[in-house]
Amino acid sequence: MKKIQISPSILSADFSQLGNEIKRLEEGGADMIHVDVMDGHFVPNLTMGPPIIKALRQYTQLPFDVHLMISPVHKYIQDYADAGADIITIHPEATEDLKNSIQYIKSLNKKVGVSLNPKTEIDLITGLLNQIDLVLIMSVNPGFGGQKFIPEVLDKIKKLKKIKDQRNLKFDIEIDGGINFDNNKLAIEAGANILVSGTTVFKNNNGNIKKNIDLLKSS
Ligand code: DX5
Ligand code: ZN
Repeated sequence: MKKIQISPSILSADFSQLGNEIKRLEEGGADMIHVDVMDGHFVPNLTMGPPIIKALRQYTQLPFDVHLMISPVHKYIQDYADAGADIITIHPEATEDLKNSIQYIKSLNKKVGVSLNPKTEIDLITGLLNQIDLVLIMSVNPGFGGQKFIPEVLDKIKKLKKIKDQRNLKFDIEIDGGINFDNNKLAIEAGANILVSGTTVFKNNNGNIKKNIDLLKSS
């Protein structure tokens, strides 16, 4: 079984202190940094873009796990690659040609992720799984931190894990949204090996990031 990794979302960080917040995450044992990019169009919220990611790059060597909730996404991919993204994750609904966008991200020597909303079926990507490094399963509807976990997505993770094992594929299964100390075990048991967490990592236990990351990893 793959080691469980935690990808804290800086959406719940203090935005006036983002550089220091990233340092705190690194010191607390984060495995990567989840950056939620929202455009106020694909999702109803607006967050940050390439200049901020570029400015943050100097604060850590940890991989930047960039979750693009923007549409149309294709023409902006290069900007995120140049800004310092290591993993670039896109939503199928945000591109006219998913296969082409996947190939494009790979051509930029970045890891490619595809994200599925709670209601999006895995059938959409089963034919592309051998080209994908990471599948991001949304366990909330994208747009905001601090939402309630949707347990129905666990079945989707189980199905995906089964396909992964049957075909002997290596992609990561990441879960994103409403992860806490109660459902982390369920997500891991279902087959997720990377947990995104914003609220739980930054707000629980009086903001003790190390403790929260350790607790999320233990199952
Ligand atoms: C939702 C984002 C998530 C979310 C995670 O659109 O993609 O990354 O902010 O935050 P919590 O853990 O607070 O649900
Ligand atoms: Zn996210």
